[in-house]
Amino acid sequence: KNITVLVSGSGTNLQRILDSIESGEIQNAQVSLVIADRECYGLERAKKHHIKNILIPRGKNFSSQLNEVISENTDLIVLAGFLSILKPEFCENWKGKIINIHPALLPKFGGKGMWGMNVHRAVIEAKEKESGATVHFVTSGIDEGDIILQKSFDVTENDTPETLAEKVHHIEYEIFPKAINQFFGN
Ligand code: GRF
Repeated sequence: KNITVLVSGSGTNLQRILDSIESGEIQNAQVSLVIADRECYGLERAKKHHIKNILIPRGKNFSSQLNEVISENTDLIVLAGFLSILKPEFCENWKGKIINIHPALLPKFGGKGMWGMNVHRAVIEAKEKESGATVHFVTSGIDEGDIILQKSFDVTENDTPETLAEKVHHIEYEIFPKAINQFFGN
């Protein structure tokens, strides 16, 4: 199975996926393409692993350019810390084959503006008792697609947006490979 991963940032989730494939935790799959919408360390990780990688600077024609480089034999598109919003036509075209990881317990703390530290600040401000991460299908509604896997942890009084970010990352490393296996029926 061929996976295309889209990144905008440090790409630790991409790294986790690559490591899971290497260790056999994710089976019968390979990351055959990594696409970034900006210069980022995620792209470097792809280069280090000799994986085909493409930079498409974000802008008006991003989604159509994306469609041109993603080959028809792609089985799964994984958004791993990808920060551009994909056009509805693109989401429709790849419906059921695009998944995203979100650093909170959707449907709470999702939607426009809810990314990165904004999410963790909002969770602290709302005095939530728990937070977590969610892997879900991507549809044209931001963070609205069906949930594939979710895991929570308790938020304590001492937690800050920074500590939450770290805890959420660890949950992500746990559930992302599982969700990918689940997707492939492994
Ligand atoms: C993750 O927390 C993910 O949920 C969010 O962006 C972060 C990406 O981190 N969408 P990394 O680039 O995988 O380290």
